Amino acid sequence: MIIIKTEEQIAKMKKAGELLAECHRQIAGMIKPGVTTMEIDRFVEKFLEEHGASPEQKGYNGYPYATCASVNDVICHGFPNETPLKNGDIVTIDMVVRLDGWLADSAWSYAVGDISDEARHLLDVTKKSLYLGIEQAVVGNRIGDISHAIQKYAESENLSVVRHFVGHAIGEEMHEEPQVPHYGPPHRGPRLKEGMVITIEPMLNIGTYACKIDDDGWTARTKDGKWSAQYEHTIAITKDGPLILTEQDPR
Ligand code: CO
Repeated sequence: MIIIKTEEQIAKMKKAGELLAECHRQIAGMIKPGVTTMEIDRFVEKFLEEHGASPEQKGYNGYPYATCASVNDVICHGFPNETPLKNGDIVTIDMVVRLDGWLADSAWSYAVGDISDEARHLLDVTKKSLYLGIEQAVVGNRIGDISHAIQKYAESENLSVVRHFVGHAIGEEMHEEPQVPHYGPPHRGPRLKEGMVITIEPMLNIGTYACKIDDDGWTARTKDGKWSAQYEHTIAITKDGPLILTEQDPR
């Protein structure tokens, strides 16, 4: 069942999204060689607590941390750890914030110091693919229009689209229906209606889209060890177009 949200509910999700966006702005200032993803995780937990919010991922299906921290060949769901980030690394920080009962979800990939041209291309194309997907998130389009826009652009830039993890509707629960794949044919899938709230969260890889899961049961890596990036926003479908609830630079 697809749950339609009222304007009041979307306003609450936007408050959660604004707090989440502020976390990402703060993280952007923390990322440098030598910092650990555990320090970032502790910052997020403290920041949310100070603002009356909570990290929804912690305890979700047994996930142990406030954030997912996915370095280099890790696609998603990496555990924060005490290994210092190195110059040239890329790291995706993903989190879900609960505020006043409502959720927002956003992941962002960061460059650590100076990164290779290949890694810069991966980050730039992945971020642009998210925004091309968001452009399709309008009343009357179908989920497949979002999926297709992302896949078409990613593959035109010689990157592959992860199949195993997808976006989702979100509200009072982290994962609601429908799913939002980042690949597939246009004009298919559920039609977008005013009041739907979804995540779009493409994970793009330099090599194969195939993944494997570590023995911790969570960490998803590329099968070939090549690098992966991800950008994710929470988006409300409104009569005036897509409203990005987790926007970091509100225009
Ligand atoms: Co998500």
